[in-house]
Formats: sequence, structure tokens, C-alpha cells
Amino acid sequence: MVDQGKRGEPASGSVFDYDAELRHYQRRLREAVDVRPGDTVLDIGCGAGQTTREAAGIAIRGSALGVDTSPVMVARARRLSAAEEVHNVRFEQADAQVHPFPAQHFSLGISRFGTMFFADPVEAFTNVGRALLPGSRLVHLVWQDSGRQEWVTSIRRALAGGDPPPVPAAGAFSLSEPTTVDGVLTAAGFADVNITAVSEPVYYGANPDAAVDAVLVLRMASELLAGLDADETERALDRLRSSMAAHNTTDGVWFDSHAWLITARR
Ligand SMILES: C[S@@+](CC[C@H](N)C(=O)[O-])C[C@H]1O[C@@H](n2cnc3c(N)ncnc32)[C@H](O)[C@@H]1O
Repeated sequence: MVDQGKRGEPASGSVFDYDAELRHYQRRLREAVDVRPGDTVLDIGCGAGQTTREAAGIAIRGSALGVDTSPVMVARARRLSAAEEVHNVRFEQADAQVHPFPAQHFSLGISRFGTMFFADPVEAFTNVGRALLPGSRLVHLVWQDSGRQEWVTSIRRALAGGDPPPVPAAGAFSLSEPTTVDGVLTAAGFADVNITAVSEPVYYGANPDAAVDAVLVLRMASELLAGLDADETERALDRLRSSMAAHNTTDGVWFDSHAWLITARR
């Protein structure tokens, strides 16, 4: 997952497979979230809804709502839930920053890398906080600094063919500074903010060609390739393929990554 668009969506209509990429982080999030059978869960920036469905599967006497600004992601989340026959889950296409959630309704807020794309983070977390019951927890994963992410540096360097332009401060890395996170959540009315480093490899595909295809779905790739002529594009793609091949293992293409697991109390 690289620098996404304004709302964290892939550049094209294709859907990036976050479930595959983030499979190790899912385990870490699950352990930290600790859903209870009676929980009413809000999943922020739910994407294709794996985290929402999983929460709903544990909250058997409760329910889960996933919200995402992307209609493509929400449609996919609904399709997958219907196919898996998860009945206590719902998805809404909504901007969590401003969506009129019912007040003090949810007993748990969760997000797997879906909280970094708000135009106004304090407004967004205040809005989410209003929807949570007093005393309830918000548990989310965000990326650490882009310079610490092997997937970012390798892909950007390969596509740029040298030093790439700086990674934008907004977007995927907007919550990479713990002091910023603490300040935003405190200003939004949360307490007991706890920020823990977690490091897990991220998966890009079963082989280098599949990994190249995955990377090319991302906005970062289209931005770095924009303006290149046909020969330059071919060279950039060759470098990208080599980079993917250098990270290929018997279990597919993997890169190192570093995240923050953030918990806070409403
Ligand atoms: C990096 S993806 C993660 C998706 C999902 N949580 C997962 O782990 O598979 C970030 C998601 O946040 C969504 N998003 C970005 N800004 C949002 C907002 N303001 N409200 C709701 N969803 C948002 C994007 O559309 C995207 O699906």
C-alpha cells in the first residue's frame, strides 16, 4: 500500500488487495481489538470489509458497521459479506469525518490503516468520538514514517530511477508522528492514548509479475509514471520488476514495514 489518493483510494478503478497485503497486521489488530460478543463495532475506512466482517463474526449478539468513502470498496465489502453470509454487518459509503453517525451508539471503534486520510483529523476524530459510547475504545493501525517503509522506498526508487520526489505529508503518512497523533486524539476528546510500534512484512503478490501488477494499481505508481515517454516507462517497469524479484521468496513478494498500533478511550 503506497501513497494513496486524497481519500486513500487506489488510482484506478481496480481494487488493491489490502487483505493479502496486510494479513500479518490483521492478526496484530485482532489481538489488540479484542471484540466481545455484545459489541457494536464501527470500522472506519473499512475498505473491502475484512476487518468489519471479522468483528461481526465475534460480536454475535451485536453488530458491525463499516464506512468507506469509496463506492468500489463498499460494493466489494457488501458482496463479500453476502457471499460469506455474515448477517450482522452493514456497510455505508460515508466520509467518517462528517457522517451523521448515531450519537453514543458504538461500543468499539476500529480501523486498519483507514484513519490517515482525513482532511481535518481533529474534526474527524471528534465526529467518530461522538458516535462512541463514553468509556469505549478506539483501536487503529497507521503507518510510521514513510522513510522507514521498505515497500515505499523500494517501489518509489525503482519507478523514479533515482531519488524520487518527497512523499507527501498528507495521506498515508499523516499520522506517522506520535506527538501529532496524541495531540489530535486529545483535541478530539479521547483519553489514555497509547501508541505501540508494530513491525510486520507486507505482501505484494505470489511472484514478481503479480507484484508489479499490484503496484501499478496504486496512485503512487501512476503519479511517478505520469509524464514518462514509452521508453522511460519501459525502463521504469523493468526496474520495478527487478525490485520485486529482489524481494521474491518461496512464499511470494514481501517488504518490511512499520506501523503504530494506537488505542484511545472515549
Ligand atoms: C489503506 S485503505 C485500508 C482499507 C481497509 N481498512 C483495509 O485494511 O483493508 C484506506 C481506506 O480508507 C478509506 N477512506 C479514506 N478516507 C476516508 C474517510 N474520510 N472516511 C471513510 N473512509 C475513508 C479509503 O477509501 C480506503 O478504502
